[in-house]
Amino acid sequence: MPLDQYQREINYLRISVTDRCNLRCVYCMPISGLQFLPAEDLLTPSEIADVVRVAVSVGFRKFRLTGGEPTLRPDLVEIVERLSRIPGVGDLSITTNGVLLPQLARPLAAAGLTRVNIHLDTLHPERLSKIMRWGTLEAIWRGVEAAEQAGLTPIKLNSVVARGYNDEDVTRLAALTLERDWHMRFIEMMPFGIGECATLVRDQYVSNDEVRSRIECELGELDPLPESSSADESKNYRLRGATGVIGFISPVSDPYCGSCNRMRLTADGKFHLCLLNDDEMDVKRQLRENGPAAVRDILMKAVHLKPMGHRLHEGVYTQNRKMFQIGG
Ligand code: 5AD
Ligand code: SF4
Repeated sequence: MPLDQYQREINYLRISVTDRCNLRCVYCMPISGLQFLPAEDLLTPSEIADVVRVAVSVGFRKFRLTGGEPTLRPDLVEIVERLSRIPGVGDLSITTNGVLLPQLARPLAAAGLTRVNIHLDTLHPERLSKIMRWGTLEAIWRGVEAAEQAGLTPIKLNSVVARGYNDEDVTRLAALTLERDWHMRFIEMMPFGIGECATLVRDQYVSNDEVRSRIECELGELDPLPESSSADESKNYRLRGATGVIGFISPVSDPYCGSCNRMRLTADGKFHLCLLNDDEMDVKRQLRENGPAAVRDILMKAVHLKPMGHRLHEGVYTQNRKMFQIGG
């Protein structure tokens, strides 16, 4: 198992396959002034598979495809097919906004995808379009249903909470777990880069303590669930009599850096050592110049050099990349 210099076991690789998205959530992407990677800068399916084979060989077991929006990659099914065939890939999931799942959920499940996390900020149609801008509740909901029908379960829904946008809607989202065997997770907004999104995150941040109080006030007490693993970034609870799970992911108010088990691969082929720091190591160049054998050394170095944690409380955070360029 790969251990970093702080003895954390790093065995989970998040692979961003594109920096493009078909939505423009207010805290993630500005509407204009965006520049995306040219196609030749993206890792190909076979290059991604090379990196994953190396990762498995040093002890990585858990893999997730992210974006931007991963379903915008026309070859996503091929990527999933290649990765799911690699012996040792235990868990292979994606994080998506769900909009393209009606056509993709079945082919992805057939290709070997195990699960999906779907981004859904609110069940209120107008407020959803205000926070997720190009998204509609109808389109995302169809995606959630398609994922469930394709057996990509347990369905996990992620809501990023922003004051004045969806903070009053957390209760209705939480209430979904009363009837359904879903995980509803609330994520604290994190600042990335500079500009419009970073300003919004600073001004509209809502802590998960506040989200939790609101839910408990309106729906009753939340019973804590035992930790499924120390690397689970979500603190999980259940409403009395509910079938599903409510989770709180609190990178800002309650950082989980001490038990972080992640490495990230950006769409343009760099290991990104910590979500909220700028440190990176180039994988693509080595892979293209020297072949997969060279990747092992870079991955072991990247694991070793992984920073201890973020310094958001000191006002230090990632300047070079935004969330959609790392994949969350
Ligand atoms: N802070 C926290 N989470 C974010 N996401 C996107 N931007 C932010 C942010 N600024 C989440 C989305 C998506 C995942 C990739 O990251 O909900 O599910
Ligand atoms: Fe797209 Fe996800 Fe960013 Fe929203 S949060 S703009 S769905 S990448």
